[in-house]
Amino acid sequence: MHPLLSLCALWLLPLALMLDEDSPLDCVPRRSVPYHRDNAHLFREEGVFNYSTMLLREDLDLLVLGAREAVFALDLKDISKKQAVVKWEVTQKQEEDCKNKGKDPETECKNYIRILHKSEDNRMYVCGTNAFDPECDYMSYTDGKLVLEKNGEDGKGKCPFDPFQRYASIMFENSLYSATSMNFLGSEPVLMRSSPTSIRTEFKSSWLNEPNFVSMTEMPESDFSEDGDDDKVYVFFSETAVECDCYNKLVVSRVARVCKGDLGGQRTLQKKWTSFLKARLDCPVLESQLPYIIQDTYRWCDPQKRWRDCLFYAVFTPQSDTSDLSAVCAYSVSDISRVFAEGKYKTPVPVETSFVKWVMYSGDVPIPRPGACIDNAARREGITQTLDLPDRTLQFIKDKPLMDQAIQPIREKPLLVRRGATFTRIIVNQVQAADGNKYHVMFVGTEEGTLLKAVNYDEEMFIIEEVQLFQPPEPIKILKFSNVTGQIYAGSDYGVAQVPLATCERSPSCMDCVLTRDPYCGWDKAEKRCVFISDSQGELVQSVKDGDASLCPEADPVKPVNQTIWPGGNLKLRCTAPSNLAITTWERDGSPLTPEARLQFLRDGLLILNASDSDAGRYRCVSTESSKTEPFSTAVAEYEVRVGPADKGGGTVIMPRAQVSGASVAGLQAVVALLVVSLLALLAWNFYKGHLPLPWHCGKRNRLQTQVTHEHGGLNQNAPRPGLVEEKPLVVGTDNGRSNNNHTGEAVFSAAEERNDPNVNLPTLKYIDDESEI
Ligand SMILES: *[C@@H]1O[C@H](CO)[C@@H](O)[C@H](O)[C@H]1NC(C)=O
Ligand SMILES: *[C@@H]1O[C@H](CO)[C@@H](O)[C@H](O)[C@H]1NC(C)=O
Repeated sequence: MHPLLSLCALWLLPLALMLDEDSPLDCVPRRSVPYHRDNAHLFREEGVFNYSTMLLREDLDLLVLGAREAVFALDLKDISKKQAVVKWEVTQKQEEDCKNKGKDPETECKNYIRILHKSEDNRMYVCGTNAFDPECDYMSYTDGKLVLEKNGEDGKGKCPFDPFQRYASIMFENSLYSATSMNFLGSEPVLMRSSPTSIRTEFKSSWLNEPNFVSMTEMPESDFSEDGDDDKVYVFFSETAVECDCYNKLVVSRVARVCKGDLGGQRTLQKKWTSFLKARLDCPVLESQLPYIIQDTYRWCDPQKRWRDCLFYAVFTPQSDTSDLSAVCAYSVSDISRVFAEGKYKTPVPVETSFVKWVMYSGDVPIPRPGACIDNAARREGITQTLDLPDRTLQFIKDKPLMDQAIQPIREKPLLVRRGATFTRIIVNQVQAADGNKYHVMFVGTEEGTLLKAVNYDEEMFIIEEVQLFQPPEPIKILKFSNVTGQIYAGSDYGVAQVPLATCERSPSCMDCVLTRDPYCGWDKAEKRCVFISDSQGELVQSVKDGDASLCPEADPVKPVNQTIWPGGNLKLRCTAPSNLAITTWERDGSPLTPEARLQFLRDGLLILNASDSDAGRYRCVSTESSKTEPFSTAVAEYEVRVGPADKGGGTVIMPRAQVSGASVAGLQAVVALLVVSLLALLAWNFYKGHLPLPWHCGKRNRLQTQVTHEHGGLNQNAPRPGLVEEKPLVVGTDNGRSNNNHTGEAVFSAAEERNDPNVNLPTLKYIDDESEI
């Protein structure tokens, strides 16, 4: 056996064991809604691409949309109605210069609109990549027109040069906070505030180490603050871990924050943040795996509560391509804030000449506390602004911006885990269901242009539906929600879609409406419709936690369809399960049928082959779906099948009319049987591979085993690549970094080997059983 293969096997073994025991649920959406024009209002303009920047102007009833070389103003209520457009194209000269610097004229040397914010005077601030020479401008909407002022403001440090690079920004009180790269090469990452006093991060790998910025948000922490605290700006990103003593590059997720009142230091940290602190963000999808990487966040705050109750929802994807799980974790702002306000710091200690190790700092911490905002305690000492901070505090934070403790998600595990299409973006909405409880509904965009709608009911993950918004399936690059219109806006490279929070009409029956467990939808008994609950005054049936459909009134019986079949002929009776979680069975004259050679149960119906007189009867297709309370069954189709002369029926009679010679009947039957067998084999293979959702619900063993084989395959493919010979299993410490009694602090990474080439782009994997190994 190849040594690498044995290592792979070693790595997979514990993974397989772990999956066997208590694996997280990998959820299947209850309903999959294929692409249809009516799923959403759509907008796209011929020849324009990359609709990935949005600004909601609820005050103007507009969705302002940034694309490649153009900004659109769309009707917020119906985005298919374009109100205005303004082009912002690069000049021939700019394109030429960009091309001469080695960039691709067709893609990189265009102007991608990346920043769109409302300024305090109701204008808008716009920035674009501008052929690798970022530029910003003010834009106004007057008399139904979008007008750019053409001031040609330098966009360095505000907007990325590279349209493929991730970035984040917010605008607050006319100050732009931006997280991006400052130079052409993309090698100078910054978190920067542009005005009135521009300040930014240090160029040090301990501050930002090849970061990938994801999102930014502000938090009004001065509100009702007893300590006289300041408002904060949070930024989420992933970066190469400096604290990982691992042999190769390891990427971790981070949250960092700065204080709005920060003016930089007087001598030390001049025009740099004195309040930049960062911490690792964990989303433990499966134990013993590489850390998951943050891709997007959504700030959710209850309008009735203070900022401390706000939550950050974040989507995570795997670091290596050996897994296809994505996850959602939620973090409480107060947990994050506590780590920054009270937690220990990490400090670098030289171990060997060229090697630095990051361990928990246990020495004296200067006062005022490094990284803290100016608060009442500091003011009492005569320190009223960051310019007054002593050098000792500033030097400390300059060297040690990283917190020792990592931030764990609420309940210390993901709220949603799903195999398949990679998660890209998230928004969250709260709804009060008929039971009076409030639920947080997650809307998650994927790489395949679908929007998932999911709820975590008391630790049970449930995906209500998955709707295909874009065809061809294009990654969702931006998601926004307007609480004024109650609509969700999704952007992709090829277009924009607008969808409501719920389309209850998709449920044709009370049972389906209740089993959908959508907190927005209930069955209106009087109107006999599944309705959006806040639109309805009537008596509603809804059971989101249990999916208890026994409360439903008796459904109207389905109308039987007459079908006729010839002796020796074949017939298909159509019947599709109403949900991915339901299974269908068949009855004839009230007694259950079992599949046999002549009676084939297909996914979308029943196939009767070589009919005889005994096949006549009343056929019922029954769909059974489990819920928390009990399984619910309902007849979804009924057929009255006669054997004899043809009749006008709705089904598909496969056989030609009588008078066919015996020989060709046999031939045809053989062909049909062969087709059926191959279809079944194909279906079985697809189920096995997980391409089709299994009819039983949230991921059980079969799918997980598939993953193991899959992963094995993936690694084997990698095997011959040069440089991979050193690949070893890495495992994040199994104590999950909870204990704080070791001198290296939280999660423990591989340490036994010295780092010689930190830039080898391979996840190095290694076990550590005992912290004393470090
Ligand atoms: C812009 O859209 C095109 C599809 O037309 C895509 O190929 C390209 O990668 C996108 N560019 C960026 C920077 O997202
Ligand atoms: C929408 O949300 C904003 C804050 O994000 C709030 O001020 C406003 O009142 C909300 N509007 C409605 C109609 O709920």
